[in-house]
Amino acid sequence: MEANPRDQKKGYKDVPKMGRGALLHTDFWWSMVPDHETLNADLLQEIRAHHEAEPDVLSGNNPGCWRGHRNYENWPQLRDFVIRKLKIIHRHYVSLGTSCAPLDEMQDDRFEFEYWTNVNEPGSRNIIHSHAKWHWSGVYYIQGMDTGAIEFYSVPYLNQHVTLGLPFGQSFTVEPVDGLLLIFPSYLLHEAHRNPSDKQRINIAFNVRIDFEGGGEQTTDT
Ligand SMILES: [Fe+2]
Repeated sequence: MEANPRDQKKGYKDVPKMGRGALLHTDFWWSMVPDHETLNADLLQEIRAHHEAEPDVLSGNNPGCWRGHRNYENWPQLRDFVIRKLKIIHRHYVSLGTSCAPLDEMQDDRFEFEYWTNVNEPGSRNIIHSHAKWHWSGVYYIQGMDTGAIEFYSVPYLNQHVTLGLPFGQSFTVEPVDGLLLIFPSYLLHEAHRNPSDKQRINIAFNVRIDFEGGGEQTTDT
């Protein structure tokens, strides 16, 4: 029987004094994108033209949030930055000994992206959701400062099973700034708080699927 890549059984006898098994712990990561002032000025121009040309593209459950996709000229700059960060993120978990595949040798064409633009009008919000069925997701803020936080939740937290004082399982709130990139596992629940400002909150959200096996789906059979 082939080993299940999700099986994290360890040789406990090999652990000298104390070991750690990772199960529910989840991280999200952030980074400021270099030269974001120039990048954002260009993206903003393209997004405004996009929004004007296709004003009727709506996101169903989120009144006041316009959503649309176009191949923006500067998207590759952002995509390449995300790929570099994902390689660093995976290196971190590999170094911790978790069941995480290294990405360092992975060619760019094995990172499949989908992305879309969100324009939240003042007063609008995006209800709690996840981006299941992808590996990693993220959001990049083009106009984010003072436009409302994004909050991440664990399922135990939402079920009110997390006691204050535990080192994990709480919620985490991020106040966005222009140029901020957030990357998180696609399963992680999150919501975008109401935009309390008088300007639009403008960001690009994305999902990433990594072709770990060079063309095949990862097996879940035991
Ligand atoms: Fe989202």
